[in-house]
Amino acid sequence: MADDLVARLDACTAVIHKKAPGFTPKLGIILGSGLGAFADSLERAVSIDYSELPDFPTSSVHGHAGRLVLGFRGLVPIVAMQGRVHFYEGYAPWQVAFPARVLCRLGIKHLTVTNAAGGINPGFKVGDLMAITDHLNLSGFNPLVGKNLEVLGPRFPDMSHAYDPPSLEVLRGAAKVDGVNLREGVYVSLAGPSYETPAEIRMLRTLGGDAVGMSTVPEVIVASHMGVKVTGISCITNLAAGISKHALSHDEVSETANLVTGTFQKLIGRFLDDVAAKF
Ligand code: HPA
Repeated sequence: MADDLVARLDACTAVIHKKAPGFTPKLGIILGSGLGAFADSLERAVSIDYSELPDFPTSSVHGHAGRLVLGFRGLVPIVAMQGRVHFYEGYAPWQVAFPARVLCRLGIKHLTVTNAAGGINPGFKVGDLMAITDHLNLSGFNPLVGKNLEVLGPRFPDMSHAYDPPSLEVLRGAAKVDGVNLREGVYVSLAGPSYETPAEIRMLRTLGGDAVGMSTVPEVIVASHMGVKVTGISCITNLAAGISKHALSHDEVSETANLVTGTFQKLIGRFLDDVAAKF
């Protein structure tokens, strides 16, 4: 963690407050690969390119727009990240998690994290949506390494309920109303950027993983550190290596994410409406 992280966060939120005066978001959402379209549905929105925000890392990955959108769903103020950066792009762990910290610092009460992931659970199909019930951080890094800043959170944050159980219940309810066959499972994070080998996928299954990806966990850790409740949703864009009959590609990931965008946006919209009522 950078020693001057608080000053960096404050510099970033100052720019946001200047562009969207008086806007205090209640909910935050991070939209993963190919899932960014939801942010376009926010009303009376102000969009800010990440490049305009100090210390905000910018993504080089196709399918990640790189824009912060501040707008409303009805009366609820929401901040959405259209795209994120990953460790494999060469950023330090604290930088990967910096945008999630900015959302928390803006005052959100709840953070929804979404991602594209490979399905490890043999019962999963391409295009399934999975509520993240827990994670395995096998990325080899943690964004909290370094001096702890007590004003942000404790040295040893509890991760027993990293994915807030009452909010997960709200998500289950929203899926039921929408007729979505919501899967549930453990998300495994790896550093990437190479996809896994079939042997690695067999290992991850043995360890209790249901889906695998290269993001999300740093954001969940810093949100937990800052006391913000989290809900996670993975879009199963492909079957993991060795389960899939063909080679993995980022094109397949993007294509599947595009195919499920309608279902995904409807579910997210309903979930945010319902969860806003709880916070
Ligand atoms: N592995 C890792 N990350 C991913 C995958 C995968 O199969 N699919 C989408 N992101």
